[in-house]
Amino acid sequence: NKDMEGMDHSKVDQPAKQESGAVEGQPPTGNMEVLTGSEINLTAKAATLDTGSGNSIPVWTFNNSVPGPQIRVKKGEVLKVNLKNELPEPVTIHWHGIPVPNEMDGIPGVTQNAVQPGETFTYEFKVDDPGTYWYHSHQDGVNQVDRGLYGSIIVEDDIKTDRDYTLVLDEWNSAGNMDMPGVDTSSSDSSDVDHSNMDMGESANSGTQSSVPAGHDMNSMYDLFTINGKVGEQFNKLLVKKDEKVRIRLINAGFMSHKLHIHGQEFKVISTDGQLINNPALIKDQLIDIAPGERYDIEFTANNPGEWYIEEHGTADAVKGMKALIQYEGSDGPKDQPNESAELPTLDIAKYGQASQAKFSLNQKYDLEYTMNLNTKEQKGEQIYTINDEVYPNTEAIKVKKGDLVKVKLVNNSKEDEHPMHLHGHFFQVLSKNGQPLEGSPIIKDTLNLKPGEEYVVAFEADNPGDWMFHCHDLHHASSGMVTHLLYT
Ligand code: C2O
Ligand code: CU
Repeated sequence: NKDMEGMDHSKVDQPAKQESGAVEGQPPTGNMEVLTGSEINLTAKAATLDTGSGNSIPVWTFNNSVPGPQIRVKKGEVLKVNLKNELPEPVTIHWHGIPVPNEMDGIPGVTQNAVQPGETFTYEFKVDDPGTYWYHSHQDGVNQVDRGLYGSIIVEDDIKTDRDYTLVLDEWNSAGNMDMPGVDTSSSDSSDVDHSNMDMGESANSGTQSSVPAGHDMNSMYDLFTINGKVGEQFNKLLVKKDEKVRIRLINAGFMSHKLHIHGQEFKVISTDGQLINNPALIKDQLIDIAPGERYDIEFTANNPGEWYIEEHGTADAVKGMKALIQYEGSDGPKDQPNESAELPTLDIAKYGQASQAKFSLNQKYDLEYTMNLNTKEQKGEQIYTINDEVYPNTEAIKVKKGDLVKVKLVNNSKEDEHPMHLHGHFFQVLSKNGQPLEGSPIIKDTLNLKPGEEYVVAFEADNPGDWMFHCHDLHHASSGMVTHLLYT
């Protein structure tokens, strides 16, 4: 099973593993392997993903699977991850959402040198904030994340559940994502990455066209939508028993937003980007809109026996593949039908949280107030994505001192593009949306999606010194300019 580069592409479609996650004897979901313990080995290597839809896609993986293995750690533990790179290009690992020390953040040319082919690097950090997170390469991210170099990482909390499932969303091109399968091997001259080869910007060695040509539409670029690497509910069965408490962690590792409908269950959204929501209300038949990089945890008591879809709603053809099934064991009930083109209301998360964990308010004093105007422009037939009219690396860094209270206004001036903005190393509180204060419903996030025309104000304390990225997690946009730094001076 060798490709044109002569690399061994082992198959990813191993039989479903029924390994225990947080809960003894219960599968986290389908074919996701779970790694626990204080020292974990991840190997970046090429493989082939069998999506189950007749398409075998050449992918880049951690430990031979897409998504990569799920890492589970307990709050307060020190996690050590040995990364070995068996790919022909350098890689790193970024711990999306986890406020790690800056030197563990995985940004090539900023916090570390990228891990060269054949080399290893050990990440080591203490995890203090429970939640649902994910990890991914941050070297040439637009290509490497697109090809599958990601997995989930759960910092366990005290919430007791009978089932704990994780669903990771992504999009693929049936002919191979981005420049796959032809792998550029020109990386041999990149051993001098040092500080010239910045993160996900034009990677010095990828030699690929990472920007989206003007007018190019994501729905034609990505024609397969997957949950945990599979197209179709037959591969993603979530077994439950009546009266069990079920938690489902939703992670979007792709570059498009997906609206999921959980059929048949009344549920609560218990966290956003890993941060718990107090007193979440029960909701039903509302779509959860998950933008690139975001996470939502939902919880329900299994009290409606039957077979129920979790599916994306929308009009693109590929949404039909983004499906999972909740299946009650040992109790009879109706068999649900998909209805992915039905229009349903979307949960407005900014109006959902109730109790206040809030540290910040709109009108208090801040040490720094900053505005980021996000926009899409056309330049030489290609789209560029700007922050205050500049593209990275010409964007202005947000300069802070340790202890500063920082307020940032984000405005999306693009006419059609959403911008899921992700800040590394910090959580921020959302203070207002489109001028409306969120006082009664504070939410805490690390990735905030701005739809066209939207304006949000967020606040955070500068409590984690270093040089941090702040960028759009549609990595096509990031690689074409929409990146800046939060820089401690
Ligand atoms: Cu999920 Cu800068 O990354
Ligand atoms: Cu964007």
